Amino acid sequence: MTNIKETVLAKFAEVFGDNNGADVYFAPGRVNLIGEHTDYNGGHVFPCALTIGTYGVARKRADKMCHFYSMNFENLGVIDVDLSNKIEPDKALDWVNYPLGVVWAFGEKGMKAESGFDLLLYGNIPNGSGLSSSASVEVLTGFILRDLFGFDVTNQDLALIGQYSENKFNGVNCGIMDQFAIAMGKKDHAIFLDTSNLQFEYAPLKLEGAKIVIACSNKKRGLGDSKYNERRAECEDALASLKTMVDIKSLGDLDEATYEKLSPVIKDGTKCRRARHAVYENQRTIEAVRALKLGNIKAFGQLMNESHKSLRDDYEVTGKELDTLVDAAWQVPGVIGSRMTGAGFGGCTVSIVREDAIDTFISQVGETYEKTIGYKADFYVVEIGDGPCKL
Ligand code: GLA
Repeated sequence: MTNIKETVLAKFAEVFGDNNGADVYFAPGRVNLIGEHTDYNGGHVFPCALTIGTYGVARKRADKMCHFYSMNFENLGVIDVDLSNKIEPDKALDWVNYPLGVVWAFGEKGMKAESGFDLLLYGNIPNGSGLSSSASVEVLTGFILRDLFGFDVTNQDLALIGQYSENKFNGVNCGIMDQFAIAMGKKDHAIFLDTSNLQFEYAPLKLEGAKIVIACSNKKRGLGDSKYNERRAECEDALASLKTMVDIKSLGDLDEATYEKLSPVIKDGTKCRRARHAVYENQRTIEAVRALKLGNIKAFGQLMNESHKSLRDDYEVTGKELDTLVDAAWQVPGVIGSRMTGAGFGGCTVSIVREDAIDTFISQVGETYEKTIGYKADFYVVEIGDGPCKL
């Protein structure tokens, strides 16, 4: 940590002349343990913040200019935005659309930045891996703006502002899970969140001699060009059909039996399967957290496996890469549960693996993956960390 702090401060000085008065901040990435594609369906999710994430060095300026620099995209150099002009998304601004979207979102909520700032970012989450590098940048930017300009917002507000910027400025209709998990993260705990009302509870993650292992497929995934918005629209259509039969607000309001009774009203078979996933996955998440609280980690793992099958067969967001990783993981003794995590269509899997089986897991899954897919996967044994902070 200290090392990274010194490195980013030194880089800031190199890029912006000096680092006098600059502060260093951090926001985590996240991994979702179970409850996938439920957050925009009024269901439950169970993510946790990671100790990897995005570091930011920031300093207020006297003028209205913002200068952005990312150590992950050094070839792009410093990107300038003048806040006296109208703030609009612009493809030419590349990654800067994420922090800029947050500046814009604060402005929309009546909190205008009174001046510009210099901002340098460095992320150690693999980009486009499904570990929420973009939500990490959004929450980090909100945290920094609050600190620089004294905006009166809570961490939960930072999550909502981040989501708003992603929806309205960057065009991805994501739910609240990622930004919430990042803004509200707590060391060694996962967050059991009801996305219909934002009520949540921290659940201690006692894995009894097992660890969370993330396998990154290295198949890049951009949410904007993926089928994410399409899945969301399919669920909305299915909900509209169900609403002609029953008074519900979201798919998360249904249990499995009620869904089975009502589902014939959804005439389109594909939309029917999408809705079935949303309903069953929500119930699975509730059950998984119940099992964890009872110390039944085995049942928790089995529900993770069920989650993957439903995402593969009903929701169709896994693809060959993620299925290969999960199938291979299921073969390894000592794997308690394994599934894709995040939006899907590439990105990562999350597995709970007994500590004594981790080496075998990495070599066996890695070998099968490379043989089947033709390139390597990367593995990360991760720790659960806290939300954003100033270092
Ligand atoms: C992405 C979105 C989240 C959520 C997941 C799928 O990570 O940003 O809001 O919908 O996909 O569970």
